[in-house]
Amino acid sequence: MDEKKVMLSGIQPSGDLHLGNYLGAIKNWVERTEEFDNYYFMADMHTITVRQTPADLRRRTLEQLALYIACGLDPEKNTLFIQSHVPQHAELGWVLQCYTMFGELSRMTQFKDKSAKHQDNINAGLFAYPSLMAADILLYQPDFIPVGEDQKQHCELTRDIAQRFNHVYGDVFKIPEPYIPKTGARVMSLNAPDSKMSKSIPEGCIFMMEKPEDIQRKFKRAITDSDTENCVRFDPANKPGVANLMSIYSAITGKSYAEIESEFACCGYGKFKPAVGDAVVECLRPIREEATRILADKAYLENVYKTGAEKASYVANKTLRKVYKKIGFVAR
Ligand code: TRP
Repeated sequence: MDEKKVMLSGIQPSGDLHLGNYLGAIKNWVERTEEFDNYYFMADMHTITVRQTPADLRRRTLEQLALYIACGLDPEKNTLFIQSHVPQHAELGWVLQCYTMFGELSRMTQFKDKSAKHQDNINAGLFAYPSLMAADILLYQPDFIPVGEDQKQHCELTRDIAQRFNHVYGDVFKIPEPYIPKTGARVMSLNAPDSKMSKSIPEGCIFMMEKPEDIQRKFKRAITDSDTENCVRFDPANKPGVANLMSIYSAITGKSYAEIESEFACCGYGKFKPAVGDAVVECLRPIREEATRILADKAYLENVYKTGAEKASYVANKTLRKVYKKIGFVAR
C-alpha cells in the first residue's frame, strides 16, 4: 500500500473561530481525513507576537480544539495538538532563524502590516515569526500545506529556507507544496466585502459559537450592493457583497450559483439575506452544541490534546534529531 501524503496546517487562537475559518479551511480538512495523513494544530506560540490576555488565550485554544472536533475532525484519524505542547517547534524554530536572512524577513508583508498596527510592540518574535512557521511545517515533512492567500509568502519562504538548509547538509527536509483546495470558499466580511472575514471587523464576522439571533442580525445588515437592481446575481466585480453571500450559501447547501439565482429570482435581497442567515444558523447549530458538550468534558479534551502532542512529538523529534546531528550538536 502506498503511504498517504502528509498534510499540515494550523490556525492561531488569537481570535474566536469564525465562518471564514470553517468554510475556507476546517470544512476542507474534514473532507481530506481519509486521503491524507493530517496534522492540525492550534498555533498558540504564534499568537504571543501580539500581546494576549492569558485567560482568553487559554479559553480560545481549548475552544478551537473542541470546535475542530465538533466540525468533524476525528482525533483518531487526524493528529490534533497544541503547538506549545510539542517543544520541537521552538527548538527547530531557533535553528531555522539562523538560516533565515534579515532581508527576507523584512520583506514579509504580514510583518509590515502588523508592525504598522502595533507600533508600540514591534518585537523580535513578530519579526522572526516566519522561521517558527517554517519549523512548524518542516518538522512533519509534509507534502502539502493548505493555506490561504495571506500565507503564501510565508510558505514560499519556508521552501527557500528548506532548500538553503538541504543545499548545505543534504536532503534533510522535504520541500512542501502549497495546496490549493478544489473547493473552499474565500469568505469576505459581511459589511466590508472587499476584505476577508476577520475578527477585527466583528460586525461583519460570524463567530462559530455565536447565538442564532446575533447571526441573523448580522446577515440582515449585510451589505449587498449600491445599485438599485435588487437582484440575486453572481457578479463579484460589481456586486461583491451579493457574490459573497451566494458563495457562503453555496458552500453550505451545495447549490450552484445558477440554482441560487433561480431560487431567489423573484424575491430580491429582502428574502435572500435572511435565507442565507438561516442556512448558516442551521449549519452552525449542531457544531456549537457539540463543541459546548466537548468543552464540558475536560477529561476527554485533555486526552485528545495529550495523545495528539505525543504523536506529533514522535514525528517532530525524528526530524529534529537529524537536524541537530547535521549541524554538529552533540547527541544527548
Ligand atoms: N501563520 C498562520 C496564520 O497566521 C498560522 C500558522 C502557523 C500556520 N504555523 C503554520 C499555517 C504552519 C500553516 C502551517 O494563519
